[in-house]
Parts: sequence; structure tokens; C-alpha cells
Amino acid sequence: MGQVHSEILPGRAKQANMADYSRAVSEFRWEDVEKSFSWYESGKVNMAHEAIDRHVLEGRGAATALIYSDSAREEMYTFSDLREQSNRFGNVLRQHGIGRGDRVFIFMPRRPELYFSLLGVLKVGAVAGPLFEAFMETAVKDRLEDSGAVALVTTPELLQRVKRAELPELKHVFVVGGPSDGGQGLISYEEAMAAASAELEPEWLSLEDGLIMHYTSGSTGKPKGVYHVQRAMIQHYYTGKIVLDLRPDDVYWCTADPGWVTGTSYGIFAPWLNGVTNVVRGGRFSPQDWYKTIERFGVTVWYSAPTAFRMLMGAGEASLKDIDLSSLRHVLSVGEPLNPEVVRWGDKFYQQRIHDTWWMTETGAQLICNYPGMDIKPGSMGRPLPGIEAAILDDRGNLLPPYAMGNLAIRTPWPSMMGKIWNNEAKYEEYFRIPGWYISGDSAYMDEDGYFWFQGRIDDVINSSGERIGPFEVESKLVEHPAVAEAGVIGKPDVMRGEIIKAFISLRDGYFPTAELKEEIAAFVKAGLSAHAAPREIEFREKLPKTRSGKIMRRVLKAWELHLPAGDLSTIED
Ligand code: WT7
Repeated sequence: MGQVHSEILPGRAKQANMADYSRAVSEFRWEDVEKSFSWYESGKVNMAHEAIDRHVLEGRGAATALIYSDSAREEMYTFSDLREQSNRFGNVLRQHGIGRGDRVFIFMPRRPELYFSLLGVLKVGAVAGPLFEAFMETAVKDRLEDSGAVALVTTPELLQRVKRAELPELKHVFVVGGPSDGGQGLISYEEAMAAASAELEPEWLSLEDGLIMHYTSGSTGKPKGVYHVQRAMIQHYYTGKIVLDLRPDDVYWCTADPGWVTGTSYGIFAPWLNGVTNVVRGGRFSPQDWYKTIERFGVTVWYSAPTAFRMLMGAGEASLKDIDLSSLRHVLSVGEPLNPEVVRWGDKFYQQRIHDTWWMTETGAQLICNYPGMDIKPGSMGRPLPGIEAAILDDRGNLLPPYAMGNLAIRTPWPSMMGKIWNNEAKYEEYFRIPGWYISGDSAYMDEDGYFWFQGRIDDVINSSGERIGPFEVESKLVEHPAVAEAGVIGKPDVMRGEIIKAFISLRDGYFPTAELKEEIAAFVKAGLSAHAAPREIEFREKLPKTRSGKIMRRVLKAWELHLPAGDLSTIED
């Protein structure tokens, strides 16, 4: 893979003015991107082969693929190293009879073994399911149960949150940094890796075979398993090239955890398909650590999120003292609206224009973006990439004119579109209820230049610090608390986090609305689900607004919160 793309792309060498953009759009063919892959000739598909082995086979094995650092470790791995490590883990999986189509989940903090094992899972054609390390018992169980995972890779600390007795399908548990324990059914990752061969023939797949699953939230029901297929690599590679603008000597850093889609599509696939050095920083956020990471490794391309940029901005100019960020040449953002104020901060203190990108777990890769060379309108998510058609539709599927607000929709299909929602055909079909279109759930408008402007979510999904939270999941956990009779959860606007989770709660008889009880309830959600799903604000009410069928009306809660009129109340209970 190499230079092929300069001709098919609007961004790089040319200025992407309107005429160039229109030409790039009309001349664009996905097939031209497909020709970059070895399977285009061989028919042998495997993501890990394209992302790792292929570089080794083509003589680039000695290039640095991964730079890992946290407060205790700093390690570098070449593409040859990653090939060897993933081959070993692939062999470990095969010895346990795990292969094509099996779901193998990985529940561990960001560290090299996460990347080795994930690539090993892909080598044998299994489907990887990365879980964010902050997930607690219920969140972990829901996902392992729904996916029918047969194996798990985890650490001794996180293993305590896995209710194995309730997960009959989970047969193999590999523990990184822990001993084997036959009686407990635990296999030491280190021992198994040391005993395994470093040679492996990957499982050859089709473009429709599974790749990865990410659980994500909607407004109703438990989190759903968004299942992506091998074909997505076409778009990971392409957007890595034209949106991230990756070039062979880049040092690239995506700050997202692989538990979220940004951390796999753009923390694993896009950079390695493009053969660049990928930086992974373990541990918690701190402005000093983050700036030092850029300086120390000479990061050139940096992909992060608005909340992180706002926190860096909040740390102020002082945090930039004696820091040299001059290696940076391209900075991008995703996950929530990027405030123009943050863009101005980037202009001034990073000497970089922060490029907003829009996409979703379900879309698998970027769709609407600001890419290099194009005129940026701060506050706009940008324009659809060549190869992608976006539109604003009304609820019946009619195209709306410029500046009219409506459903942000994408013409189907595109290469990285989800293959299915695991075990839930009906949920999958909801996205495609208007024939020929994917309905995103976001509302937006388009201006006369074809730039898209985000307005909000159409449903009740909450976006806090760029993390997507389903109110139903939080409400279900809240009502498990003995004091809680009923609960309704909304997103409350917040300057730093975009939105915070606010819960309205009515108490059972015998419980009193105290500050201690609020804390106890929040801690209960934290311990059961995860810190980011816990309400930051709780308000007790005698009664919650419900429909006659007993559904809590979040819309009315939101109106209470924002002091807005509550709208149509014809279905309210009393
Ligand atoms: C939702 C998807 C895949 C990226 C990480 C989030 C919101 C995403 C933007 C943006 C405003 C954005 C949307 C979308 N969102 N990017 N540039 N500007 N909002 O993935 O967890 O699946 O969430 O995040 O509301 O629907 P996700």
C-alpha cells in the first residue's frame, strides 16, 4: 500500500476548493481504494494480515508500529514484533478450539497485550469484543451474555468483575499477569504465549465475515452489539489516508480507548493499515502527561475529542510552558460538538486548526469531515467524504432544502457500515426505516455549500464527555436500589462535558430525600455499571411524569430542567 491515493483524493496536494471537491466526488470509485489491498488480487481477506503482516512481507517489518507508555513503562514494538505476538496468541486460541466467527472479548486497560491479543483474535478469524476497563459487573455481564463470548482476555484485577458462574458460554479465560489455575479454569497469558509457536497461517475470510463488536447505547433497551465486518477496512484505510492524512513517517496518536469505536477504527486499524507509528498512552488524563507524550515521541497527527480539548484549554497557557508541540502538523476531533472557542484555542496555542469529524459506532468510520486543504467553517462538522452521500430528511424521507433542520441521513451502503446488531434484527432495521438511507438519530442542517451543522440528538441518548450513554441502562440500575421507586434520566447541558447525566427519582415509602442518599445512589450506579454512567446530579420528586401506559416522559423532565414548555401532554397520566 502506498502512494496510489494522491490521484483519487481531494485533500492532500490540491486545494480542495468547491470545484476540486465536486470533481473528486464525481470521479471517486471505491474500487480504486480496494485495489490497495492484497486481497484484491489474492481473494484472501484478513484485517490483521493487511494491517500487520503485509508490512512485514513487503519489507517494512523493522518500522516501529507501536509506542506504548504509561507512568511505569515505555516500550516500542515493530511490525515484525506485532506479527510475532499476534501469531502466538492466534495459536493459543486455536489450541483451545477458538476460530472463525467465535466472539472473544478483551477486558483490560490500554497496554501492549491488549493490542497483541486483539490482533491474535483477528488472525484466527474470530470477532474481537473490546470492553472499556471502567465497566463494572452488570455492564460486563450484559455484554458477555448477549454476545455469547466463548473466551475472555483480562487481568487479575478486572477478573473480579466477571460473573463467570452466570456465563455458561464463556469457556476460556486468559489472564494477563496472573497464574494459570486449572481448577478455576484460568490460563496464564504469559505461559500460553511462551509455549505457542510464532508461525501462523491466518484464517482467510470473506469481506462479509466478522471483525469486531462494540456495544453502544440507544434510548431504549440494553446496549446493543454493533457488529462490524472485514469490509470496513476499505474505509479505515481510505479515511486514514485522506482525513487523518497519514504518511509513512508519521507518528500518530489517537487518545481513545479501544473499548470505544474510535479506539479501534482509528486507534488500531486506520494507522496500521497505513503503516504508521501508533502511540498509545496508558493511564489517566492529565494535561502535563498528554503534552509530554506529544513532545517526547514527536507526535505529528493527533486525534482526540472536544471534552479533552476543553480540559486542556481549562488547564490554560501555564500548562504549555516549556512544552514543545512543534512536531504537530494535523489535529482532529470527534464525538461531540467542537466549540468554535476550542478551534480558536488550537489555532493560537497548537498552531493547528482542529479538524472536526463526524461518525458513529454504527457507521464504523468517518463520514462527514473537515479534511486537510479544505476551507473550514468553525462549528461545522464538514462535508461528506467523496464516496459518501449525506442528506437532511424529514420523518417521511423527503429531502429537505439547505438550512432546514431534520434527520441526518446517509445513503446506503458504504464499506464500514455495520453488518448487523447482534441478536437484534429489529433494532438494526430501525436505522434503515427509510428505504435507501441510514437514519443516524442526529438532527442537523446543511448550508448552501454542502457543509453539515450538528444540532442535537433526536432521541434521548446522552453524550457526556463524548461517551454515549443510554438513559434506560442507567434507569434500570437506579431502580435496583432499595430506596428508588422510579427514575428518569436525561442529559443536562454542561460547559465542560457537553452534557452530564441527571436523574429524577421518586423514593419508596420510608426513605427520605437527603444528600447522603443522593451520594449513595450515585455510588450504586458507579459500582454496578461504570463511573461515566453514574448521575452527577440527582433530584428527588414526589412523582415523575408518566404516560398512561406507565412510561416515564423524559421529554417533560428535560423541559423541567431547562424551564421550557413541556409540549404536547395529551398522553400524560394525570
Ligand atoms: C454520536 C455517536 C464514532 C465517534 C465517537 C462517538 C455524536 C459524533 C460528532 C461531531 C457533534 C458528534 C453524535 C453521534 N457525535 N461526532 N463531530 N459533532 N456530535 O461515537 O459513541 O457512537 O456516538 O456522537 O450525536 O450520533 P458514538
